[in-house]
Amino acid sequence: MSDERVVAASVLEEEQASDVALRPRRLAEFVGQRAVHEQVRILVEAATQRGEPLDHILLHGPPGLGKTTLAQIIANEMGVNARLTSGPALEHQGVLASILTSLDDRDVFFIDEVHRLNRAVEEALYPAMEDLAFDFVAGKGAGAQTLRLSLNRFTVIGATTRAGALGGPLRDRFGVTFRLDFYEVDELVAIVNRSASLLNVAVDAGGAQLLARRARGTPRIANRLLRRARDYAQVRASGHINAEVAAAALEVLGIDDIGLDELDRRVLGVLTGSLRGHPVGVQTIAVSVQEDPETIEDIVEPFLIRIGFLARTPRGRLATAAAYRHLGLSVPATAPGNVDAQPGLFER
Ligand SMILES: Nc1ncnc2c1ncn2[C@@H]1O[C@H](COP(=O)(O)OP(=O)(O)OP(=O)(O)O)[C@@H](O)[C@H]1O
Ligand SMILES: [Mg+2]
Repeated sequence: MSDERVVAASVLEEEQASDVALRPRRLAEFVGQRAVHEQVRILVEAATQRGEPLDHILLHGPPGLGKTTLAQIIANEMGVNARLTSGPALEHQGVLASILTSLDDRDVFFIDEVHRLNRAVEEALYPAMEDLAFDFVAGKGAGAQTLRLSLNRFTVIGATTRAGALGGPLRDRFGVTFRLDFYEVDELVAIVNRSASLLNVAVDAGGAQLLARRARGTPRIANRLLRRARDYAQVRASGHINAEVAAAALEVLGIDDIGLDELDRRVLGVLTGSLRGHPVGVQTIAVSVQEDPETIEDIVEPFLIRIGFLARTPRGRLATAAAYRHLGLSVPATAPGNVDAQPGLFER
């Protein structure tokens, strides 16, 4: 591995460890997402009263907004075990069978990246979710027999960053779907303060505000920025994070005053550079910035759309007038949101 890769890997490991350490365990600690929060509480109470498992639940939304966290919280609130796996890890039906048959009554079976299940596994999951049955074929050729195993009652919680990539038959088997949305600044402030006290770092109100504002609406990023500000404060300041220290730490990271990072700016650079004013396909953007199309679609675009910097049109992506202004560039007539442009011009 190159040095850069080693550093990247260790930062990733730190991130994963910190995700686990900072992850809320109970619903009461789960900040924001009020509508989802309330519905989860009702579902859990109702199922508990009836002594039944929860209905199957699909969680979707951009990375780092709390899907895995919420799945574990739901299991904790139900007082059951959670088995965690992911779509790609369920390689064949045998792996699925061994997990399903090991579940106790009402357990949660969490499948991350549920849109990446392979076909055979997905099809074996249908009767399991619907009829608590697992069919498998014993023997080969003419003597082969299909045997049906019956399973304990259980709940599948599926998580995905792209609900659109889920096939209809699978989507229909989830009785409940929750969409997690980007967090408001005050919610991220609460998350920063909670994490700071768990990490034993001093952050004042100004410091927490600044980190929250630049976290791209995402708890995982808020926690990441807090850790970087803590490092900076330890080395360059007295260990205390105020607005000034936070701003200096984020400057080192290349995060601007509204939370755009280097990749966001590179993507906007493609749209506002030589291709300015023309719709650009995701593939072209991905090649230009040397990232996977999935990273562009799942991580970069949702936030840029949310802040009104990027528009999706049938012919491709366009930077909006607001994006040009933020970058200090002149606004082409075809940019969505350009009030000086003639109405309908960019739709031609
Ligand atoms: N509502 C919340 N309140 C407090 N902290 C949160 C909340 N949501 C997420 N976090 C924090 O953000 C981190 C990332 O959340 P999580 O791993 O659940 O995201 P995810 O949606 O599963 O992301 P991915 O799509 O990448 O798997 C958690 O470890 C937790 O510390
Ligand atoms: Mg997750």
